Parts: sequence; C-alpha cells; structure tokens
Amino acid sequence: MKNCLKLYNQFVLFLFLFSPFLTTGSATAQTAPVFRLDGGGATYAFGVNERGELQPLYWGGRLGSQDQIPPAHLFPEWASFDSPHTTTPEEYAGWGGGLFTEPALKVTFADGNRDLVLHFVKATRNDTQSKEILLKDVSRDVYVTLRYSIDSETGILGRSASIENREKQAIILEQVAAAQWTLPRAQYALNYLTGRWAGEWTLNQEPIHSGARVIESRRGSTGHQANPWFAISRTTRQLVTAPDVSEEEYGEVWFGALAWSGSWRITVEKDQLDAVRVTGGFNPFDFGYKLNSGEHLETPIFYGGYSNHGLGGASRLLHRFELAHVLPHAPDPKPRPVIYNSWEATEFRVDEPGQAALAEKAASIGVDRFVMDDGWFGQRKDDHAGLGDWYVNSVKFPSGLKPLIDKVHALGMDFGLWVEPEMVNPDSDLYRKHPDWVLNFPGRPRTEQRNQMVLNLARPDVRDYIEGFLDKLLTENDIAFLKWDYNRNWSEPGWDQVSIDEQRRVYVQFTRNLYSILAKLREKHPKVEIESCSGGGGRVDLGILQFTDEVWPSDNTDPFDRLSMQDGFTYAYTPQIMMAWVTDSPHWLNGRATSLTYRMLSSMQGSLGIGANLNHWSAEDFATAKRLIAAYHTVQPTIVRGNLYRLLSPRGNSPFSATETVSRDQNQAVVFAFANATQEGRGFPLLQLQGLNPDTEYQLSWIEGNALAGTPEAASGAWWMGHGILLDLRGDFKAAAFHLDRKP
Ligand code: GLA
Repeated sequence: MKNCLKLYNQFVLFLFLFSPFLTTGSATAQTAPVFRLDGGGATYAFGVNERGELQPLYWGGRLGSQDQIPPAHLFPEWASFDSPHTTTPEEYAGWGGGLFTEPALKVTFADGNRDLVLHFVKATRNDTQSKEILLKDVSRDVYVTLRYSIDSETGILGRSASIENREKQAIILEQVAAAQWTLPRAQYALNYLTGRWAGEWTLNQEPIHSGARVIESRRGSTGHQANPWFAISRTTRQLVTAPDVSEEEYGEVWFGALAWSGSWRITVEKDQLDAVRVTGGFNPFDFGYKLNSGEHLETPIFYGGYSNHGLGGASRLLHRFELAHVLPHAPDPKPRPVIYNSWEATEFRVDEPGQAALAEKAASIGVDRFVMDDGWFGQRKDDHAGLGDWYVNSVKFPSGLKPLIDKVHALGMDFGLWVEPEMVNPDSDLYRKHPDWVLNFPGRPRTEQRNQMVLNLARPDVRDYIEGFLDKLLTENDIAFLKWDYNRNWSEPGWDQVSIDEQRRVYVQFTRNLYSILAKLREKHPKVEIESCSGGGGRVDLGILQFTDEVWPSDNTDPFDRLSMQDGFTYAYTPQIMMAWVTDSPHWLNGRATSLTYRMLSSMQGSLGIGANLNHWSAEDFATAKRLIAAYHTVQPTIVRGNLYRLLSPRGNSPFSATETVSRDQNQAVVFAFANATQEGRGFPLLQLQGLNPDTEYQLSWIEGNALAGTPEAASGAWWMGHGILLDLRGDFKAAAFHLDRKP
C-alpha cells in the first residue's frame, strides 16, 4: 500500500511537471526522431520513444518554427496494473503487450497468436506537409504504413493507414482504425451529431467523463442516427452536466471527420489516467476482414483539425477544407443551381404532361434545374415495384424522356433525374432474373424495408450492372444531374459468392465499389453532377463527398425544423452542399403553417430549391418566389462559400435564431434572422455582426424585413460588429434577411 502511494505521488508529480503532453528527454531518447507538421494555425507532432513505438507529442496551436519539440519518452507504469503500454499514448496502437485502452489494430494470426506490438521501422516520406511512417510488429511480418498530410491553409490533417500482410498465411483483421488522435490532458466537452429519419443533425453536447463514448453505424452505410464527425471543446472547469458547454466563438476545439460511407465507429475515450483519445475507422462490429498473404488493406482517411475560435472557427475551417480539397471540382466547386423537384407535390405520379406543366411554372420564377424524382421507370406506381428496372415507363413517357428533357432545356433549365441504383424490389424483372444478387444468407429470410432489398455491390457482376445501366442512361439522355438515393440499411449481409472466411469483406468492398462506380461515371460524364441522398441525410460524410456535389440533408422540409437541422449540419458540412427545398404549407410532417417568405428564407440559408406543388400557387406566391430567387442568386456565393457565424442558435427551443455569412474578401455579409415564437412582447435580440473589416464602410440592403428606426443605411464594420443592429422582427414564424456590402 505504502509503495502504491509512493508511486502515486511520483506519478502526480510527473503529470504536473510534464502535462499536457508528458514528454521529456532522456539520454537515449534525445536522438530519437521527431516528426512535425505545421499548417494554418496548427502544429502536429509525434516521435519514436525509447521502446520504438510511435508516440503523439503535440496537437494544438501553431508553434514557433524554431521551437524544439522534446523527443518521445515512455510514461511510467501505474502501480502494477497499467504498464507503459497503456499509460503511454501511441499514434496507432496494436492490441498487444499490456494495452487496455482502445487499440487501432487488432489481429488474429493463423497459429492463434493474437498479440500485436507495432514498432517504428522508418519514415518512407518526410516532407514538411506530409509523412509516411512504416511500422512493423515486433516479430511477425505485419506492416502498417501511417500516412499524414496537413493542409497549409486550414491546418487540417488527413490521416490513414495501410495494413500489409507479409506473413505466409492469412490473418484476420478484427479491428482497423484509420487513426487515433490524442488530446492534451485537460477537461473537455464532446460535441457530436445524431438523428433519425426526418430528424437528422441534432447537435449533442456533453462533458467527457471517464469511460468511452461510442458513435457509430452498424448499418452498412453512414446512417441518419449518427454522423462520423466530432468536436471536442476544452473547458476550464470540471463538467458534471452540460447543456451548451461549448463556446461558439471562443476557446480551443479539436475536431475530426471520417471519410467513409460504410459502417464506421468513432470511440472517444477518457482512460483511467484521464488521457483523452479518439479512435475511428471501420466499425469492428462483425468486421473480421481476412487479409491474405501479400495483400494490404487501406483505411479511409480520418481528418482532424484544431481551432482556437470555438466551434464556429472549427466549422469554418472544415467548410473551407471541404470546398478546397474534398468536393468534386475542388478547389472551386460551382454554387448549386436553384432546383425544382416535384417529389412532395406529385410523389410517384410523374408523367410527361404533368412534369412539363410544372417545368413551365418553375422556369417562370427563375429556377435553374428541373429534377424529376421517383416514379419514371419500370413498373413504378408506388414503392412496391420497379427498383432495379431502369428503363423508362412507356405509359408515363410514351416517347421516352427526350421530349421532357427538350422542353426543360427550351425553358432555359437543365435536367436532373432520380435514381436508386443499389436497391431492388422483389417485384422487378431484375430480382426475378437475379435473386442471388441481394445481400442475403442462403436459406434465411430476407428482410424487406420499404418493400426493397439491397443489391450486393461487393459482387463484381452487380457493380458492372449498375455502372452499365447508369452509363447508358447518361449516354442516351442529356442529363445534367442525378439524385442518387439509398432508402434502407443492410440486413442479412451475406455474400455467398466468396469463401466463408472472406464474406465479411463485404463491409469494405461494397463501399469501395460504390466509390468506384461514382468515380467512373464522373470520368465518363464529366458534366454530370450528383446528389447523395439516403431517405434524407443518411449518407453524408467526407467519403461520399469526394464524388458527389451536394446532399439531401433530410426528408423533413418543415422550415422551422430545418433551422435546427441546418444549424447542426453546418457544424460539420458546408452550406454549399446543403440542399434546402421550399415546400407546401401546412407541412405534411408537423401540420405547421408558415408563410412562403418564411419558408423561402429558411431554405436560402443553404442551397435553395423549390419542392412545392406549383399548380396550387397564387400569382402572389409566384411573385414572392421570383423576387426572392433573384435576390438569392445575387448573394448565393457569399452564403455558400463565405465564413459562417451562427449568431443566435435555434437549439433548445430558442424563440429566435440568426446566421451571418461573410464573403472571404470581407466585401459582403448576408444575415438571416427568424422569430419563431415571440413571447411577452420581447424584442429580437441585438445582432452584433462578426467577421467584417472594422475599417470598411458597409451599405445596408434589405432582402426582407426591416430594422428599428434610427438604424443607419451605411456604417463601418466596427459599428455593425460593436453597436450591432436591432431588427423589427416579432410574431410567430417571421423572418428577415439583409446584406451589407462594401461601399465603393
Ligand atoms: C427518398 C428521398 C425523397 C424522395 C423519395 C422517392 O425518401 O429522400 O426525397 O426522393 O425517396 O422515393
């Protein structure tokens, strides 16, 4: 006991002296390599400790270029229960030695050995902006290459791993992370996004307590229920409960996003010694990936960044990074065309005259793109039949799609089409011909959802079929855009075409084949743009966003609900990809009645679309929509590419909310404000703007609404940010919008 206490005291002294990163030199470690990456406002460093393990050294604000980072050094044992394998953080920990914390890699060898201890071999690349580090097990021929690259502008790092089996026999990979992130020893709050169908993008904020918080999808795809993004805010006090513990514009935040559209897992762990680390990659649940001799497995990229401007700063860095490095056409993806889509108006009842009539009305209000949704193909009358049969329904479109497409073009719009390529209805020619093509375990029931099953994209013949019909569709028709839907999750994920021990590769191969189809279609049809939709926001992540230009955040288009969803969405993703339709009132989901102006302004916070039944609109509705679409077109680049400030959060049933976006050159700011439920006559809170140039004179122009008397028509950035603006905005579901422009 006495001994334990002595050890404890020594350890506390050690923590105190060497926190937050607990690195100190030793005679042997002085010469050990240290690797450092600098970008934007961040520095990241790791090194090799005296036992040969790769150990994190620093992740935080940018250090001076001459600053020396002390080499890595093993942490001491914690009594006789936690050896240095557990007390010393690693960049990529194998499960072996005495590791009790979350491993990055867990392996079973052919002879039953399950011990894996990874040591540094060499740096195979060591540039200022990127590193490649080779690790190897202490005795077996299992090699791991860790890749790092840092973006010089945002300081966002991309990390991934490649696992290579040079053993003579196959190994089973039970757990494979893309990366592990270690944070300085401090108190933190975790921010993460959860949801469900029609209720995506809820921002959760909670203290990080001891233990592990797991956010994940076991569904075969990204999922509505959790999104592969996290942000960890440093707090100055011990948190017990924590509604709204994270500051929007102040303080340090470490954040990350996993670029993978299959089953994934992110584990945020505060261990027994209060060290906080985040491990993310393939979901180990049911994983068991067989890696044959000579093969390697690449992980997805796990991006991570650092901001010292709170969650707002973190999301602005991510937005910029997504536009500059992730999306197709990066670094300059075009703002999205304003679309019309009749799904909520007509559902499956699409035909040539009906769509043509809607197209005329859509063109009259300034829509750029007309999209035909579900119902145009096979024997598709409702959701019971047709998926898989991608030929044009000859009753609804007797002369094919060409007459409608020509009409849409003549009206000055381009044409888009809905597809759901990975699915099949049992009532389809495709399923009757190829019942073995769906995910299934032979002899077991096949669970249907929405009367459909999932095609096993991991199979080469299924991949080729999907690529083939889409290529044909795009070659034969002048289609500018695909809305690519995915309306259920996996069940019975069997793949009996391959040997039993290789069937679990489906978790990787399905998603890889999806990416490969998307990449090939884009290569063959470079003008085609694609939206990722999965019954709303069920497949939004930085993996799919390499191949898709936009996403459908939710099937819930209620303009009030959307304010909170859009708020949550923008913590992780840029408004450029956030499609937002104006639909009918009262809303089908909540029965809430709102004005067209309120609906338009809610949608104008992202990439605007119209999804209402235009056949029911009045002349006044057309005039309002036309005016607001024209206004939107003039400020859209600022809204979707600028720096976003969430001035007033709609979360927690706030009666008010407001956002501001400032163009990168600080020449323009666009503000949206919403009074959702005024009570007791309370005025709209003062809006003190952010991100303007204090010395620039800005002219105020209204899109909708007004300020209280006495507001100047022009004033300095300092005035708008310091004095602020009081809006004349009250009532229920009322909205205002204005912009400030640099005076010539
Ligand atoms: C999904 C989409 C909707 C619509 C329908 C069509 O639910 O999210 O927008 O396209 O499918 O069936």
